[in-house]
Amino acid sequence: MKNNSLYLSDILSVDQFSKADIATIFATAKKMERIVKTKGATDILKGKIITALFYEPSSRTFGSFVTAIQRLGGGFIPIQGVQFSSVVKGETLSDTVRVFASFSDAIVLRHPEVGSAKIAAEFANKPIINAGDGVGEHPTQALLDLFTITNHFGKADKLTITMAGDMLNGRTVHSLSKLLSLYRGVTLNFVSPDILKFPREIMQKLTARGMRVHEQERLVDLLPATDVLYVTRVQKERFSDLSSYEKVKHHYIITPELLKSFKKTGIVMHPLPRVGEITMDVDLDRRAVYITEQMRNGMYVRMALLRLILNR
Ligand code: CP
Repeated sequence: MKNNSLYLSDILSVDQFSKADIATIFATAKKMERIVKTKGATDILKGKIITALFYEPSSRTFGSFVTAIQRLGGGFIPIQGVQFSSVVKGETLSDTVRVFASFSDAIVLRHPEVGSAKIAAEFANKPIINAGDGVGEHPTQALLDLFTITNHFGKADKLTITMAGDMLNGRTVHSLSKLLSLYRGVTLNFVSPDILKFPREIMQKLTARGMRVHEQERLVDLLPATDVLYVTRVQKERFSDLSSYEKVKHHYIITPELLKSFKKTGIVMHPLPRVGEITMDVDLDRRAVYITEQMRNGMYVRMALLRLILNR
């Protein structure tokens, strides 16, 4: 690799990526896939230690990062839930990240507050990887989602992508939609109940970049022209009023019956976890890739990012 621009960089937002960066990450992810499938592991990160510092619950992001680190031959400090750390004694985020930056070579951070990864990066002298900051961003999820889309269709240009569910609080849709705005001729449909509409400030960014964006509440009539149906859960933990959550939690339920009108060549994605918005019998549909391709790609893309950030 001639010039690795990601070396020792923070990963805070998808806004930092150019198409060239994404091409490098995806080419590296393909190499990682080959390594896993042929040898299982490598020692590219031998001698490197990464802290996985998760203030919020996680299965996939935590698990895939920890697996990625081990398959690359690195070591890790797992902090999954901060209830046994000095955070419960009142330690600030800035002090906590400086502690772990002094022990390790990078920190993967999940935190409930928007902007927390950026604050952490200001204090830590080691790379910070944003693994989800409240309702803000989830850049590594967006990369694995885009990797899944480009692997499947051989491109991202000119696709119609329909995102349904919690457009307001779903950080994965915020990050993925911005990433898709780098590609030509993408049509984005945001489908949600009125109280969960996509944030206006991000919408303005997308339209300023010339993206075709539509919003509506009804899903079914969009399905015949949709290439990627990206479903999200309604994020209960972001509601201050649980009665509002109860009213919208099952607004969309994807079933085999509903998917009868969905494009035959389309794919169904979900960042997961799901809490009822896709019925389990949909898993048997060959267009459902959330348990299969999308999940595995998370590990390859995270292996690629760690390799590029920590290895010149
Ligand atoms: N998609 C995702 O971020 O899942 P986890 O919350 O389980 O990490």
